[in-house]
Amino acid sequence: MNYLLGIDIGTSGTKTVLFDKNGHTVASYTEEYPMAQPQNGWAEQNPEDWWSATCNGIRAVLKQSHIDAGEICGIGLSGQMHSLVLLDEKGDVLRPAILWCDQRTAVECEEIHERLGGRERYIAITANPALTGFTAGKILWVRKHEPDIYAKARHILLPKDYIRYKLCQVFATEVSDASGMGLLDVPHRCWSAEVLEKLEIQPEMLAKVYESPEITGRITEEAAALTGLKEGTIVVGGAGDNAAAAVGTGVVEDGKAFATIGTSGVVFAHTDQLSIDPMGRVHTFCCAVPGAWHVMGVTLAAGQSLKWYRDNFCDADKIEAQKLGVDPYDLMTAEAQNVPIGSNRLIYLPYLMGERTPHLDPDCRGAFIGLSGMHTRYDLVRAVMEGVTFSLRDCAEILRGMGVKSDVILACGGGGSSAFWRQMMADILQCPVATTVSKEGPALGVAILAGVGAGIYSSVPEACRQMIGVNAVQEPIKAHMDAYDAYYEVYRNLYPALKESYHQMAKL
Ligand code: XUL
Repeated sequence: MNYLLGIDIGTSGTKTVLFDKNGHTVASYTEEYPMAQPQNGWAEQNPEDWWSATCNGIRAVLKQSHIDAGEICGIGLSGQMHSLVLLDEKGDVLRPAILWCDQRTAVECEEIHERLGGRERYIAITANPALTGFTAGKILWVRKHEPDIYAKARHILLPKDYIRYKLCQVFATEVSDASGMGLLDVPHRCWSAEVLEKLEIQPEMLAKVYESPEITGRITEEAAALTGLKEGTIVVGGAGDNAAAAVGTGVVEDGKAFATIGTSGVVFAHTDQLSIDPMGRVHTFCCAVPGAWHVMGVTLAAGQSLKWYRDNFCDADKIEAQKLGVDPYDLMTAEAQNVPIGSNRLIYLPYLMGERTPHLDPDCRGAFIGLSGMHTRYDLVRAVMEGVTFSLRDCAEILRGMGVKSDVILACGGGGSSAFWRQMMADILQCPVATTVSKEGPALGVAILAGVGAGIYSSVPEACRQMIGVNAVQEPIKAHMDAYDAYYEVYRNLYPALKESYHQMAKL
C-alpha cells in the first residue's frame, strides 16, 4: 500500500489531497461552500456541505490519480476548530454549525467563568479563558436560546469529527481539536469532569478522545460505497487545522514556529513544556505530537479580510482576471506591490469578526484609518495586507514575551503562497520566513499522522524529517523593517483609541 489521504474541512472549502508515502501530492481537489452571517458577528455553515464536499473530493482524487483505493494505507482528518455540530439520537444534524469566528456568546463566556468559581480556576484546568470562539459557550448558547433543539441533542462534535462519524460511524475526536472546546483538561489531555459537571454537560454527549496519530475508526461499507474508498481503511485522529499545519510544515519540536494566512491568521509555536499566557491572549492547546503542546495567537479575519475586500470592491479585477485566465488575488496584489509601505498613510484594522489575539474583544470591528481622496482601491488592498500582518505581529510579540523563540517562521496558507506577502511577514515580524516544498500544510499534516498510525513511520517527528522539505529563506530587509515599525506603532494605538466607540456601537 503506497498512498495516504489528507482531508481538511476548511471554512472556505474542503480540500482533499492524495499523497504518496514520501509526501508528494498525487491528486488534489477543493470544493468551496458558503458561510452564512445571519446577524452582525454571527457565522454558520451547513455540516452537510462539508460532507458532500468530502465525498466529491475523495471521488475526484481517486479518479484523477487512477489508483486502486485499496492502495491507501490511511486517512487523516483536519478542519476548522471550535465550530459546534449538534446531532440527534439518529445522528442527524440538528441546526447549522456555529463557527469558530461567531461572536454571539459573550454572556455565556462570563457564565462559564462564574460557574467554575472564576476565570483563574477555569484557566488552570483548560489552559485558556472561555472565549466567544470556543465551543463551550456555543453549547450553553444553544441550550439557553434554542431549548427544543438542545433537548434533542445527543452528540456534540467538531467539524472534522462529524466527517469521521460519517466515514466510520464512530464518535471520536483527538486532543488538539478537543483542546479548543473549552471542556478539555489540557495539561492531562482528557475531558475535565469538573468543567463538565459545573457546566451541566453530559459526558456521554462528547466524543472519545485519542492522540492525533492513533487509529480511531475504519471506513464503513456505506461510506465506501459513497466515496469509492475501500471498506476497512483506517482513519487516524488527525488534528485541528493549526495543529495539522504544524505537522505539515515540520513544526513538531521546540524552537519551531509557523505563521498562516488562511481565513484566519495564526502564529503558532511548538512547546514540549506546557506554557500558558495568564492573560489568555494566546491559546495553549495539546499539539498533534503525543505529550506536547503548542501556543498560538489568532487573528480572526486574515485571508477573510482580503476576500471580503475582493468580493465587495474588486469586480473590475475579477473581470480582468477572468479575461487573462489568472487569479483575481494575483492582479490585486501585483498592483498593491506598487503602493509604498504604509499604503500612502492608510491603516486597516482587520477586526471584521471581532478579534481574539491580543484584544479578546467580540465587539470590535474592522476600520480603515486615514482614508484620503487620493487613495485608490490598490492602496486599500495593500492596507488590508499590512493590517493583517500587523495583527500577526501582535501575536508574535506575545509569544516572544512568553519566551517562545524561533529562528525562522514557516509561512503557509493562501497568504503564505504569495512571495510579496511573505516578504511583508519577514519585514513586519522581523524574522526570516521560509516555505515548505509542499504547499498542502494541514492536509499533508494529517496524511503524515495517518502514516504514523499505519505504522509506516515510528513517530511524528521522524515522519516529518522524511516527508518535509524546506525552501530558501526570505530575510527581512532592514529599511522595510524600520518603515513598517513606524506604522505598527500607530496601528497598536488605534484599538485602545477606538475601544470605547466599538462598545457603544455594539449596543446600538
Ligand atoms: C483557531 C481558530 C481558527 C480556525 C480556522 O483557534 O479559531 O484558526 O481553526 O480554521
